Amino acid sequence: MSGREDIMASQPGSGAIKLIAFHGSPRRSGNSSRLLERAVAGARQGGAAVAEIFLRDHALSPCLEDYGCRETGRCTIEDDFQSFFELLEGCDGVLLSSPLFFGTVSAQVKILIDRCQCFWVGKYRLGKGAGASGKRRLGLFICTAARPQRPDLFEGAQRTVRYFFDALDVRLWQSLLHSGLEEPDDVLAHPEWLEEAFALGEALVAALRAEIRPHF
Ligand SMILES: Cc1cc2nc3c(=O)[nH]c(=O)nc-3n(C[C@H](O)[C@H](O)[C@H](O)COP(=O)(O)O)c2cc1C
Repeated sequence: MSGREDIMASQPGSGAIKLIAFHGSPRRSGNSSRLLERAVAGARQGGAAVAEIFLRDHALSPCLEDYGCRETGRCTIEDDFQSFFELLEGCDGVLLSSPLFFGTVSAQVKILIDRCQCFWVGKYRLGKGAGASGKRRLGLFICTAARPQRPDLFEGAQRTVRYFFDALDVRLWQSLLHSGLEEPDDVLAHPEWLEEAFALGEALVAALRAEIRPHF
């Protein structure tokens, strides 16, 4: 399936909790993607409609810093980001996976983040919230690394993702961070981590239901 087709095939229907899931690794079936796949499966099990995007399959220019977005809050670079923009505007939550590269997110993810400067402009310069209806949106961040765990290993990546989510009016609800993973299928030796990812996907949908319809 081409990148464009994978988005269209999973376009959420109306009424359901709508999520967008970005796979940020250059490896299609690496550790972070396998964890995100389980989280997506859990979210679908919980009743969400999930648009899944493998960033490595998309043609995306980096931000050109020409502020074409200054008047409208919409990026003017014509590429695959345009279809992401509408999904990001209309979704209830965001799932994002990335390998840890030099202490932060992958280049694929960083390009996406920088292109979302148009949301930052919309929010902080033009006074509009990124969430179409002003609803409370939540985000799940999944990141994997090769080095053994240490307290500050994921600090840089998490900070970047927090800034990113803030521009989107998305609260970083949970992070799933695992290290000691080098080869693409290393994570398969940890079925409990995959189960945890599934459970988090399901729990994200439940948390969103509680945020969006707190009285039900
Ligand atoms: C360019 C590059 C930079 C990396 N930088 C780090 C790093 O800073 N810290 C670390 O623990 N692992 C680092 N790694 C290893 C990956 O983060 C790790 O193997 C990860 O689990 C890969 O996830 P993936 O299989 O989803 O791509 C790096 C790997 C590459 C290729």
